[in-house]
Amino acid sequence: MAARPTIQVLDDVDQIARRAADEFARLATARAEAGLPFTVALSGGDTPLRLFELLAGSPYRERVPWKRVLVFWGDERTVPPDHPDSNYGAAHRMLLARVPIPKGNVHRIKGESDDPDAAADAYEAELRDAFRLDEGEFPRFDLVYLGMGADGHTASLFPGTQALVEKRRLAVASWVEKLGTHRITLTYPVFNKAATILLLVAGDDKAETLRAVLNGDPEKPEYPVQLIRPGNGELIWLVDRGAARLLETDRMRET
Ligand code: 6PG
Repeated sequence: MAARPTIQVLDDVDQIARRAADEFARLATARAEAGLPFTVALSGGDTPLRLFELLAGSPYRERVPWKRVLVFWGDERTVPPDHPDSNYGAAHRMLLARVPIPKGNVHRIKGESDDPDAAADAYEAELRDAFRLDEGEFPRFDLVYLGMGADGHTASLFPGTQALVEKRRLAVASWVEKLGTHRITLTYPVFNKAATILLLVAGDDKAETLRAVLNGDPEKPEYPVQLIRPGNGELIWLVDRGAARLLETDRMRET
């Protein structure tokens, strides 16, 4: 049974990023102290950019045991890694190129492939190998970052797409009609296996959707993000005041 999500309202995207960076450092350190790797799936879009910047600078750059950190992505656009829209590209420029993380610890989705299905299959194989999974097993990420679009998508799980009903595969290529392009995304079974999911949402334009998502009937989910329910993990929403402006105060913990 999924635990009830926590909703933390913070002043702005900078405070969201600080909280998200603190969690990254805390979890990575705990795993390293146990002699274990720290597996994290990064999200794309604009909201996590400040997080990347923070992690690349003091004190996080020094605090995080980068040699133990294994980086993956929750989704990727079908563009080359140096394209302005590449989720890998943004994280590489703002974070990974600035910290001492071994190259072999960075597992990007090959969005540049001219066969998105093959790229998704290849990523699935890379996940199986990195997590040493048997057939039918799903990887349990220590930490997953997600965002939410104003249409309630998360990662590249967009409304009305086939990816929403995928129960077996770890990663799929999904045609997104509204974008007129394929996206490659991890699937719900992977996200919902995670130990900790931080869902970062900032901006007035997300307020209507956030209220509908958090107040909606869990039995009748209308938005893809509502099906993010880690079965044996915690889901923490980190939202700014703009995105939270339509929420009743009893639904959240002001911090
Ligand atoms: C992507 C992301 C996507 C993002 C939301 C929110 O590849 O675009 O994975 O799911 O998190 O669209 O994006 P913003 O943070 O830019 O609002």
